[in-house]
Amino acid sequence: MKELTLYDRAEASAEFLRERGFGPVPAGLTLGSGLGAVLDGLQEEQSVATSDIPHFPRSTVAGHSGRLVQGEMAGRRVIVVQGRVHGYEGYELAQVVHYVRTLSCLGVQRLILTCAAGGIVPELRPGQLCLIEDHLNLMGSSPLRGPHDERLGARFVDLTEAYDGSLGRTAAACAADLGIELGSGVYAGLPGPQYETPAEVRMLRGLGAALVGMSTVPEAIAARQLGLPVLGLALVSNAAAGLSGEPLSHEEVLEAGRVAASDLRRLLEAVVATF
Ligand code: HPA
Repeated sequence: MKELTLYDRAEASAEFLRERGFGPVPAGLTLGSGLGAVLDGLQEEQSVATSDIPHFPRSTVAGHSGRLVQGEMAGRRVIVVQGRVHGYEGYELAQVVHYVRTLSCLGVQRLILTCAAGGIVPELRPGQLCLIEDHLNLMGSSPLRGPHDERLGARFVDLTEAYDGSLGRTAAACAADLGIELGSGVYAGLPGPQYETPAEVRMLRGLGAALVGMSTVPEAIAARQLGLPVLGLALVSNAAAGLSGEPLSHEEVLEAGRVAASDLRRLLEAVVATF
């Protein structure tokens, strides 16, 4: 039997979702670690466990139960992705971004990527939200590696505007209206799953990064290949290693998400209302 291409698999996942009422919506919204409370702002209409969707990889991390939920947020229909998978779980980056391609097959028009991240610069305090301006792909791989399929976009993808300037300005304006402090900076994507050493954090700072995390980068790349504009929003869950004198823990990351999730929910509602 002929092996299915990446596009065929994304289309098969999309078809499964279409049969369950999912469809073309103005935005897909991916929730990072501990940010599930953002779903409180959603009038849920359809919900599917990612483990039921053909070709979807299974999430294996605490705080990342896998679901796709379609519903209304601020009067607009969105599809929320909860429980993305990461390269450190053993998945190829092509599998990590499978959901992005599925959303594109469904006709989703934009992608909002949220994540928890370590703050590398002192201006970014734990609990603060931060616009991702650009990224450093330090994951050692690319989701676009491997055979090329033009139905997914170009072989050599332009990343001059990996994160959409117009969406970023909208988010900044909405944050200002709401009185939410929104930082901005470059996100360094590392493979993980270990947190960084203090020496690595100093190196990242020297490279111009303000944030460090283990997700977001592959998805932004895949979205740009598909021509989807991307908005990236990070919650600074902790000061990166060596900056606060405290050890880092996943529990701390989840807790920061719970605390800041209501600001993130308000900001996302305001942004989505502009679509
Ligand atoms: N480093 C890498 N990934 C992270 C961090 C961090 O400090 N915090 C949340 N995700």
